[in-house]
Amino acid sequence: MDLQILPIENPKPKVSDENKLVFGKQFTDRMFVMEYDGGRGWHSPRIQPYGPFSLDPAAMVFHYSQEIFEGLKAFRRADGQVALFRPADNVARFNRSARRMCMPAVDESFFLDALLQLIRLEADWVPHNEGTSLYIRPTMIATEPMLGVRPSSQYLCYIILSPVGAYYKGGVAPVKIWISDFYVRATEGGTGEAKTGGNYAASLYAAKEAAENGYDQVLWLDAKERRYVEEVGSMNMLFLYDGKIVTSPLRGTVLDGITRRSALTLLDEMGYQIEERALTVDEVMEGAQNGRLTEAFGTGTAVVISPVGSFCYKGSCVQLGDGRPGRLTMELYDRLTAIQYGKEADRHQWVTLL
Ligand code: COI
Repeated sequence: MDLQILPIENPKPKVSDENKLVFGKQFTDRMFVMEYDGGRGWHSPRIQPYGPFSLDPAAMVFHYSQEIFEGLKAFRRADGQVALFRPADNVARFNRSARRMCMPAVDESFFLDALLQLIRLEADWVPHNEGTSLYIRPTMIATEPMLGVRPSSQYLCYIILSPVGAYYKGGVAPVKIWISDFYVRATEGGTGEAKTGGNYAASLYAAKEAAENGYDQVLWLDAKERRYVEEVGSMNMLFLYDGKIVTSPLRGTVLDGITRRSALTLLDEMGYQIEERALTVDEVMEGAQNGRLTEAFGTGTAVVISPVGSFCYKGSCVQLGDGRPGRLTMELYDRLTAIQYGKEADRHQWVTLL
């Protein structure tokens, strides 16, 4: 397939004050688009001006949520170069999500090349300030107009770009976590490990409950026993418990986070013992009080590393340590971002330079 590059007519003004960048509100001038038709496969790949699509109201995505997405980032380095972090891993996960949602796979090397080509054309949109980046959102939706419940025979795949600041308004500030004792995000055998919109839609009700109680994010428990901590919808959770790193194992209900993987590699190299095991909510709540749990943080592309300041569960709320970001959490944040922004050597070949 040949990638067609269409001209843009009215480039938008670039971000004037990077300190005011918020997450995911502004988009660049161009996007990548390609279509799929059963029998023909993927076709018409192109980079075109960013703008709305015209879709049939019966398009299957609107009714049965056959949709997947990815999130990755491009970083501006001090020397002006632009670096992507583990992009091939995101493309591979896109295809794993596609498989789970009965959607067609993309050709990974073609898709990665198209993504890199798009970033090259939009490189001026990669912001410069510390903590900023260009967030990349590959997406696939089912477009066949049809109300029967079955996989669509037509799809649209696109990539949009958004210059972003920190995911949470307060930057790397501790988040307050609400542990849901009733609502669940994912069940074994469900779609929890696929990056599909329905998982996020299903999380909104409990997130609203958390917000009404003054909490930032929901930590989900397992659906069977409501006993083991799993993940926060926008990030995986890691705990420093008894001096070891504990995180839930990947058993289909938790997203196989690329930042999670990177964090575990770095923590292992820093000499920490890693336990991928089911951690109970009691261990978290009691551990925060008796000092066995000293730090907890989320990992994710959007958040990078996000320290936890407190947990609330069934009306009992505990602060972690002195409520400020933990020493290890910040050390990990510094190491990971140093690799992303090119201040530390990329010993794992995680970085792709444009
Ligand atoms: C990411 O970290 O890229 C995510 O996909 C989380 C998102 C839903 C904001």
